[in-house]
Amino acid sequence: MTISLEGQVAIVTGAGRGLGRAYAMELARRGARVIVNDPGVAMDGAEGSSKPADEVCDQIRELGGEAQPSYDSVASFDGGAAIVQAALDAWGRVDAVVCNAGILRDRAFHKMTEDDWDSVMNVHIKGCFNVLRHAWPVFREQSYGRVVMVTSTTGLFGNFGQANYGAAKAAMIGFMNVLKLEGQKYDVRVNLLAPSATTRMTEDLMPAELVAKFGPEHVAPVVAVLASRDCPDTGLIIEAVAGRIARSAVVRGTGVTYDESQLRDAEWVLANWEQITSLDDAELWWHLQQPLVPADD
Ligand SMILES: NC(=O)c1ccc[n+]([C@@H]2O[C@H](COP(=O)([O-])OP(=O)(O)OC[C@H]3O[C@@H](n4cnc5c(N)ncnc54)[C@H](O)[C@@H]3O)[C@@H](O)[C@H]2O)c1
Repeated sequence: MTISLEGQVAIVTGAGRGLGRAYAMELARRGARVIVNDPGVAMDGAEGSSKPADEVCDQIRELGGEAQPSYDSVASFDGGAAIVQAALDAWGRVDAVVCNAGILRDRAFHKMTEDDWDSVMNVHIKGCFNVLRHAWPVFREQSYGRVVMVTSTTGLFGNFGQANYGAAKAAMIGFMNVLKLEGQKYDVRVNLLAPSATTRMTEDLMPAELVAKFGPEHVAPVVAVLASRDCPDTGLIIEAVAGRIARSAVVRGTGVTYDESQLRDAEWVLANWEQITSLDDAELWWHLQQPLVPADD
């Protein structure tokens, strides 16, 4: 089965470099017209240049595709509006949004400043809100939409020195869990991708042998699936990390149960800690009131 995005319009934020560039190229190669959004900032979010977005647009056009640059920051609500408006002005619709823009302000928590926290939150999680809040009415109107938010294994599992980044990336899980429900009626599918690949963000962090092996092109095919009409699911977290593609999930243990006549004290909680924390027979839940029925429901 060939996955095609022919006739569709995709927005990729932070698409001037690294992973975002690979996503934009892959979606364009499969027929999408792409808004290549990137203010071309440094890794900590400073400065800016139109060059990265322009270069990716040129590369897409050289391959026969269609692309338009956008230099707005996802970190402002107006920026989010302008990014979506750029797609509407150019091609009159938005089919897929890949929220990929990212910066780093890594620091051990006791040294982290308010600005380190706010800047990372503003780009990563507020940035998703800023763009998606403007794309959402378009999706509802056309009864179709695909959203890919780029999370990180730091948000899923933790990583020293990245309290701001981990918090922002994990917040996407809660955001997705609600959007998947609100989008369901309109065939808007919302998924998270936790990638890993050699980019300027990771070249000093990843082991040298992995750096050489796993570039962004190893992650881009997953985005092509999640951003396409053929995307089979909504509400999933997919990891694409150094040669392994797999699902991650938040699950609920069976725990211990008791009825209202049995007020339990702290000693009882501690005595039952092993069973309380056991993940044996843990379940996925689709939403607050409903245990998850199978992924293809
Ligand atoms: N590289 C990895 O292994 C890895 C791992 C986990 C998660 N991620 C995530 O993947 C995404 C891409 O990372 P990358 O490694 O390609 O980094 P990168 O630095 O190469 O690219 C990020 C791009 O985002 C752009 N950007 C920054 N602030 C922006 C803003 N306010 N508005 C729009 N664009 C903005 C930058 O200009 C840059 O071109 C990020 O969200 C990152 O957190 C990457």
